[in-house]
Amino acid sequence: LWQDVPLAPPDSIFQLTAAYKADTFPQKVNLGVGAYRDDNNKPWILPVVKKATSILLNDETLDHEYLPITGLADFTSAAAKLILGADSPAIKEGRTVSVQTISGTGANHLGALFLSRFYKFNGTPKVYLSNPTWANHHAIFRNVGIEPVDYAYYDPKTIGLDLNGFIEALNNAPERSVFLLHACAHNPTGVDPTQEQWKEIAKVIAAKKHYSFFDCAYQGFASGDLDKDAWAVRYFVAQGLPLLVCQSFAKNAGLYGERVGALHVVSADQETANRVKSQLSVLQRSEISNPPSHGARLVSLILNNPELFEEWKRDIQTMAGRIIEMRKELHRLLTEELHTPGNWDHIVNQIGMFSFTGISPKQSKELVEKSHVYLTGNGRISMAGLNSKNIRYFASELDKVVQG
Ligand code: LMR
Repeated sequence: LWQDVPLAPPDSIFQLTAAYKADTFPQKVNLGVGAYRDDNNKPWILPVVKKATSILLNDETLDHEYLPITGLADFTSAAAKLILGADSPAIKEGRTVSVQTISGTGANHLGALFLSRFYKFNGTPKVYLSNPTWANHHAIFRNVGIEPVDYAYYDPKTIGLDLNGFIEALNNAPERSVFLLHACAHNPTGVDPTQEQWKEIAKVIAAKKHYSFFDCAYQGFASGDLDKDAWAVRYFVAQGLPLLVCQSFAKNAGLYGERVGALHVVSADQETANRVKSQLSVLQRSEISNPPSHGARLVSLILNNPELFEEWKRDIQTMAGRIIEMRKELHRLLTEELHTPGNWDHIVNQIGMFSFTGISPKQSKELVEKSHVYLTGNGRISMAGLNSKNIRYFASELDKVVQG
């Protein structure tokens, strides 16, 4: 039995974490996985999360019963307001369905599964993914029988957005195609459309009746401002475009292990929303029965308590601010101290947790193998892995590979 099972390669991102942990080189640097670290290279438990945890620990009304299949209602409704806006017409009109999921990955899966069952695809089920995108997007859609197809997004020449290519892809795709859009802080490039560019994108999406499948894993990380980072999603809702949003609290609440997220499907009317909700419940029941309670209770407390919510916003600014400082310092080291050949402005222009350095797979491999600097083969670095103690070492190793 199982003799024919082929050996699968390890996950491209998590194998870097394992290799980094096993490495005994004192100056090793982990810029692989997108997980926030403080200036001492330690995972940061947000002070607001510590506070919320102690409130939960002392709450004697809580038990270990099952949550409803669609999750903790106080959490899902507050999470919907966070991304769609407290005054969103889609919420007021009762046409948003929100289901608690196993973080952003679970939301992507449930959304993809729902589409695989109920979306009226124009031909074979396909999803258009930005080139490049988070590697897991491909696997998630393939798992449910939806074929991933690339759309132009990143221009290696400018290390920026290929808006013309993107618009062309939207125009060339058959009507009613499904496009996965990164709501903010694009993973892996850190390159987001501007608000004006989003408006152009939305116009074509409307004309072609495409479906927008938003993935929002970094709300707050792009600008440090939760509302600003939700702008694209809210604009699309305001334009009446059909969409869903996958939401994760892994990064912005530092709750990586709790797996707390949500899927929000914005429908045309309440009656449709009720039908969508009934089917999402059936799918969720067969896969996980009920989502886990702890992380959802923590986030619910933070979102629903005005004082904790304000504190959370400050914590997000601490994380986003440190990342911005690292961007500035890396840019300064490369341009002013090391005089590394090439233009490095993209380091400060890109936003969010990641930077696409623009170095080749060969140079990335050299950094891993010779310099003990762990990064994905596409040249993406997690800015959160840089700190005041290791940034100089990283900059000089990067300079070496660029100089050849
Ligand atoms: C990443 O891209 O590094 C993160 O989103 C972690 C993951 O699940 O891959």
